[in-house]
Parts: sequence; structure tokens; C-alpha cells
Amino acid sequence: MAFGLSLMTPIFVVLFVVASAEADVYVVHMDKAKMKTLDASLGATKRWYDAVIEFIAESSPSIHEEEEQQQQRSSPDLLYVYETAISGFAAVLSTNQLESLKRMDGFLSAAKDELLSLHTTHTPQFLGLKIGHGLWSAPNLASDVIIGVVDTGIWPEHISFRDSGLPSVPSRWKGTCEAGTKFYTSNCNKKLIGARVFFKGYEAIAGRINETVDYRSPRDSEGHGTHTASTAAGNIVKNANFLGLAKGAASGMRFTSRIAAYKTCYALGCASSDILAAIDQAVIDGVDILSLSLGGFSRPYYSDNMAIASFGATANGVFVSSSAGNSGPTSSTVGNTAPWMMTVAASYIDRSFPSRVKLGNGKVFNGASLYYGKPIKQLPLVYSDTAGGLGAQYCITGSLSPKLVKGKIVVCDRGINSRVGKGEQVKLAGGAGMILLNTPTEGEELFADPHILPALMLGAQAATYIKSYLNTTTKATASLEFLGTSYNNPAPVMAAFSSRGPSLVGPDILKPDVTAPGVNILAAWPPNVSPTRLKSDKRSVLFNIVSGTSMSCPHVSGIAALLKSDHKDWSPAAIKSALMTTAYTVDSTGNPIGDAVSGNNSKFATHFAYGSGHIDPESAANPGLIYDITTEDYLTYLCSINYNSSQIAIFASISNNNFTCPDDSAPQPGDLNYPSFAVIFRNDSQSPTVTYKRTVTNVGIPKSVFFAHVSEPDGVSVTVEPDVLEFQEIGQKLSYKVSFTKQEDRNAPNDHSFGSLLWISFHHSVTSPIAVTWK
Ligand SMILES: *[C@@H]1O[C@H](CO)[C@@H](O)[C@H](O)[C@H]1NC(C)=O
Ligand SMILES: *[C@@H]1O[C@H](CO)[C@@H](O)[C@H](O)[C@H]1NC(C)=O
Ligand SMILES: *[C@@H]1O[C@H](CO)[C@@H](O)[C@H](O)[C@H]1NC(C)=O
Ligand SMILES: *[C@@H]1O[C@H](CO)[C@@H](O)[C@H](O)[C@H]1NC(C)=O
Ligand SMILES: *[C@@H]1O[C@H](CO)[C@@H](O)[C@H](O)[C@H]1NC(C)=O
Ligand SMILES: *[C@@H]1O[C@H](CO)[C@@H](O)[C@H](O)[C@H]1NC(C)=O
Repeated sequence: MAFGLSLMTPIFVVLFVVASAEADVYVVHMDKAKMKTLDASLGATKRWYDAVIEFIAESSPSIHEEEEQQQQRSSPDLLYVYETAISGFAAVLSTNQLESLKRMDGFLSAAKDELLSLHTTHTPQFLGLKIGHGLWSAPNLASDVIIGVVDTGIWPEHISFRDSGLPSVPSRWKGTCEAGTKFYTSNCNKKLIGARVFFKGYEAIAGRINETVDYRSPRDSEGHGTHTASTAAGNIVKNANFLGLAKGAASGMRFTSRIAAYKTCYALGCASSDILAAIDQAVIDGVDILSLSLGGFSRPYYSDNMAIASFGATANGVFVSSSAGNSGPTSSTVGNTAPWMMTVAASYIDRSFPSRVKLGNGKVFNGASLYYGKPIKQLPLVYSDTAGGLGAQYCITGSLSPKLVKGKIVVCDRGINSRVGKGEQVKLAGGAGMILLNTPTEGEELFADPHILPALMLGAQAATYIKSYLNTTTKATASLEFLGTSYNNPAPVMAAFSSRGPSLVGPDILKPDVTAPGVNILAAWPPNVSPTRLKSDKRSVLFNIVSGTSMSCPHVSGIAALLKSDHKDWSPAAIKSALMTTAYTVDSTGNPIGDAVSGNNSKFATHFAYGSGHIDPESAANPGLIYDITTEDYLTYLCSINYNSSQIAIFASISNNNFTCPDDSAPQPGDLNYPSFAVIFRNDSQSPTVTYKRTVTNVGIPKSVFFAHVSEPDGVSVTVEPDVLEFQEIGQKLSYKVSFTKQEDRNAPNDHSFGSLLWISFHHSVTSPIAVTWK
């Protein structure tokens, strides 16, 4: 997800594991049942983790015997104990101690701690939410839903987190408001009902937090956490805007939800051990929804701490919304892909911030910028050699020559340093303006950035033209014009940066799951963090416009909170199903959702970009049927992808049951009761037909009849059995089988085709996409 970080937070790009020769922090998973037995045998004297730590201290002789005699045998430093969503602990362990630990009964796995990365008012209207109607009507806003946001902390004084009009804190809430640097228990209120900070893992990896630039407290020094929390559940704030742009009311998706902030992310990233501690605590505290706008590299679920902790949260009834990552448009980049996680892609809304370049030869190009001010008249255009020395093409630090640049417009290519950082260099060198150019990889995707000088961004096609213009013209000039805010653009369009499927870890599950607004999103911002985060930027704003799957994820968190209050008995899987089966795949002009890579919607996006489609909150409140999934079903899925007993125990032991894989009939991964279909035809597979089973639950109208309607993927015939489902009552479950048969001539490897299965009744249409892959 590295790219995504450069998208908005360059400092978070780093994903690394700092290894010291002596000892490292390890995240250790232990069998919960066996730890309970150990607890029982210890009586009241101590807990299982004390015994485990004692055992490793005693049974691991130091290699250096001499040192050993001089020094006391040291106990491993225990950072965290996990007991609810996860079972295990985080501790500083030497290699020897780790070896001893592995011999303990109940040990499941251990991995070095590592840093993961963060992936960023008009949106409620775009999503069809209206005050006084449907999901935003009084009864649905009255009940108490608590959203836990695991992020960079929060700016508690922000107007978006005021609590006027909210009833008292729900009595079931067990969380707390932790005091720390510039953060007091009085900073929490009836809106921000909890705030905690976790940094033991981070400090063990990256050293002590520098308190001149960050806080050892839940206070946000970065902006990301304040932005995501207000997107999910911030108050309605009238006349919110960014320096005069995007004027209107800013509001969280469920503006009456309570927020609990769990700070785990700092300058270099977020330590796994801290994230696990935050999720474990959030589940104990009583959150209903977890919003996770962060992640790491895709890896098997048993070694993916985000997946493990999310499983435990889901097993405890918590809905987990997570960002898909910002590594698109390359395929198979999607992260946070465990089937129990909601994996959210990012797309554009209908709002843009247009700007215009006119070259000396009269040619005009449309760009994007959050700079808002007077136009720049025709000025000389400089680039690369004509602007400075080595690196001037990218406008990197110190590369531009003031003599060459002063009073001119500088052309800069994307790459290496941040987009706003390039503008800072141009300004420092005395430039009058900047034109930022995409490379062919970024295509026609345009970010509106809060540049500190008159600057705008153009797509790859304009870039090619301008470079040849610069080459062939001795006196190249350009003028810049900034056009404010524009609405009613065709939308949604998939963001090029949004990570794409198919999932490498679980190709049998279609990922991402849905898309939601994630480009140029206006939300709350700490007033002492500049909108560009550049030191030279002295602007202070209450709202900032940022992009990323980090921004789309909290939209889904807030919508899930609305669904949860409308349907208190729905499981996390049911909420997910409702959002997926009602998602749409056409834009506001009636065409398939486009892909920003190509510009002008000339290339349509696929289900590997948007999953089931764009979320439609009001439809999701009344989906007709749901595909429910139990904790046991997820464990059976893990059996079907051939995880061994110790790998499965990492998940199974959390839910406290004696789970064993069914041995009579081998389950297949595609049988997980998922609301979408991923079908894989392997070259070598014997049978040309794949058959999956599904069960739907009636949550609509008691007596209703649903008819199957299939849109067949290219090269595949699909049959549904039965193709009519007749329900008599609410809560009734009916099952069906769907068979996919490949046509003989269709065998091209690495190829995909797409279709859908709809269950249609008089009142409902329940849609599941079908994504076929030939391997
Ligand atoms: C902390 O950050 C400040 C400001 O960037 C810097 O001047 C200082 O050297 C840093 N302190 C340490 C211990 O790194
Ligand atoms: C510009 O000219 C240089 C040198 O003649 C050449 O290498 C480069 O490919 C040209 N670039 C474009 C965009 O035409
Ligand atoms: C977009 O469409 C306009 C008019 O239809 C055309 O002039 C322009 O070249 C197109 N741009 C791209 C990037 O396809
Ligand atoms: C499961 O697989 C892991 C990794 O290959 C291995 O370390 C472990 O011993 C296996 N467990 C069992 C019970 O086979
Ligand atoms: C799990 O199995 C063990 C041994 O068979 C038994 O003692 C224990 O009660 C079982 N636990 C649950 C939750 O069923
Ligand atoms: C897949 O099929 C193609 C065409 O029939 C064949 O050339 C290729 O060797 C096959 N690959 C595998 C891995 O079986």
C-alpha cells in the first residue's frame, strides 16, 4: 500500500521491521482454551501470561555465559496482553527466549512486530442521505451506535465533535478518556466518548516519540485520524469549506454516532502490536463498528494481524470496515482481504475543483487544484534543464535554480517527492506558478491539492503534449486559471490509486467488496496542522480536502452504524451483505462506472476495482434478502483453503469453541456464504463445471417470491437450482446452488470476465457480481 501513502501522507510510506541483534518485539498468538486451563491451574496467585513470561525467562540460557554470570537473568519485557479479540501478547524477546516459547503448550505463532501504514460535504447528499428521510430520520439517529476509529488520534476541540443535543453516554460503554500530553479526561464528551493511546510497540521499533512534533496522548498531530473520525460520525457543521472551496454543510455519515478514538499511528507508521492492543481494547470497551484506514502487505490470514484481530472483533459482533489500499491501478494489489472484513475501494464523487492551462499557442487543458485565487497571465514556461540541475524535472529539494525559475511557471513531473512539496520548491526558488504532470502510469487521475502557490495538475495526455511543446518552442509560455468548485460531474468514477483485485491471498473471494467516496473529501482537520503538512505552510484550516481509501473506509463505517441502528439484530455479515447486494455499478449518466486511469470514462472499471459496486445506503436499509455468515462458517472456509490445525487455532481459539474441520465432505472455498462470486477455472482442472452453494435469509416481506436472473460472464454458462425462491415468513432461510460451466474454447490464462446473479421480487433486487478468472 506504499503508493497510497505518498498520495496523502508521504511520511507513512515506510513499512519496515527494525531488527536489533539482541531482542525484538514479537506479537505472539496463544491458544485461548489452553491459557484458560493454565489460569485455572495457577489459582489466584497469577495469570497465564505471568507464567509464560516466567517460563521463557527461566528456560532460555544466554549464549554469553560470562555476561550471564554478571547480569541478572532478565525477564522479557511484556508490552501488551491480548485476551478478547486476540489471544496472546506482545513482548520483547531474544532469539533464545523465542525458541523456549515455541516449546510451550498452547503456543500458536509469533512474528516480529512491524509498522503498517495509513492508507484519506457534499458526500452525504451524493450518497442519497437526506435530513428527515429514511436512514437520516429520527428513529434511526436516536439509538446509540459507537464507532471505534483506530488511527492517528483526534483533535477533541473540533466543532465536528461537539456534543450539544446528544443524550448521555450509553451505560454499556466501558471505555475511558486517557490523559496524556495536552490531552485531558475533560476532552471527552457525549460525542467523543472515549480516547486511548497505544505506543509501546511503536517506541520499541522507532524510538521514543518526539514530543515537540507529536503527542504521547490521543491528540492528533497529523490530521488523518481527525479527518476519518469526522467522516464516519462528525456533527453537521454548516458553512464548512476549505479556503472558500467546497462550501456547504460538512457531516459524518451517521452524525449522531458516538466516537471512540484509538491512537496507534505516528510519524513512521503504526505498529502491529499497538493496533492489536487497540482492537482488543475497543472490543472490551464496547464499540459496535471498527474503522481501520490502515494496513500492510497482503499475506496469508494466519500471519496477518489485521485479519486475526478483525476476526476476533467480528466474532464479538463488531462490524469491521477497512481500506483496500492505495496501490492501484496495478491488479492484485488489494489488501485487508479477509472475508470477515469489509474491504472498501475509493471513487470520485460528482464534485471537482477545475482549473485551466492555456499554452502560448492557444491550446487549452483542464486540470485540478485546491489553489483558489487570481489567474496567472501568460508567463514563460520552464522544465527540467531550463529550470535547474539534477532532479529539476521532478522539482526535488534544491534542484531548481532561482535564476532560471524566478517569475516563471515551472513544469514538474510526478514522482519522488510529494505533490505539494514540489510546489514548495517552486515557491522557494521564486517561481510564479507550477504545472504538475502525471506520468502514463497515473494516467488521467487528477488530485486537487492545497498548493501553497498558484499550481494545478494535468493528466498524462496533456503531459505528452506540453513536453513536446516545450521541446519545439523556444519561447514557451502558459497562463493558469482557477475555477473554484464544480458539481454534477459524471460520478462515481473509480480512483486510479484505489487498490485492485483479484485478491492474491483468497482468490476465491471477490475483493474489494464495495467502493465509496474517497477522492477530494472535505472533513475535519486540526487547526495547528497545515493542510499540506509542509513546515513552510502557515495556513490553519478547520476542514481539509484529502484523498485515499483511508477516506472511503470511514464512509462505510458511518453507513454501517446507520444500518446497525435500523436493524439491531443484524450480524456484521448481514450488514455487509446488505451493503453489497444493493450496491450499484452505473454512473450518474447511466453508463458503467468509469476508471480515472483513462480519463473521460473512456475505459470502464471492473468488479476487481469496485467489487459489488458503489454503496447505496438507503437501498441497503431494505435489501430484501441477506447472505449471513457465522463464525463457524468462516472457520470452515479456513479449512477449505487448507490451513492446518495450528493455523486455524489462531482464529478458532478466540471464539472459545472446540472447532475441528468437517472431515466427511471436503468444503470448497467458494461455498462460503459470500454475497458475491469469484469463480476460478484452472487450466488443469478436470471438470469444466464449478458449483457453489448459497443460503439467503428473508429480511424483507414475509410472503415473497424471488426469481433468479443471470447475466452470464463471457465464456461461461450459469445455471441456478432452484431458480425460484418462495418465502413464507421473515427470517426464513432458503438455499440454492449455482453452477458455472466454462465453454470449451475459452481457455486463455490470466483472463477475466464478469457477470451477475440477481434475485428479483416485486419489491427487491438482490444482486451478486460474478467474477471469472482463467488460470
Ligand atoms: C524533535 O523534532 C524537532 C523538530 O523537528 C527537532 O528539532 C528535534 O531535533 C527532534 N528531537 C529528537 C530527539 O529527535
Ligand atoms: C525532447 O527532445 C529531447 C532531445 O531532443 C528528446 O530526447 C525528448 O524525447 C524530447 N521529448 C519529447 C516529449 O518530445
Ligand atoms: C475528453 O473529451 C473531450 C471532448 O469530448 C476531448 O476533447 C478530450 O480530448 C478528451 N480527453 C481525454 C483525456 O480523452
Ligand atoms: C502448520 O504449518 C506451520 C507452517 O508450515 C507449521 O509451522 C506448523 O507446525 C503446522 N502445524 C501443524 C499442526 O501441522
Ligand atoms: C472443548 O473440549 C474439551 C475437551 O474435549 C472440553 O473439556 C471443553 O469443555 C470443550 N469446550 C467447549 C467450549 O465446548
Ligand atoms: C494451459 O493450457 C495451454 C493451452 O492449452 C497450454 O499450452 C499450457 O501448457 C497449459 N498450462 C498448464 C499449466 O497446464
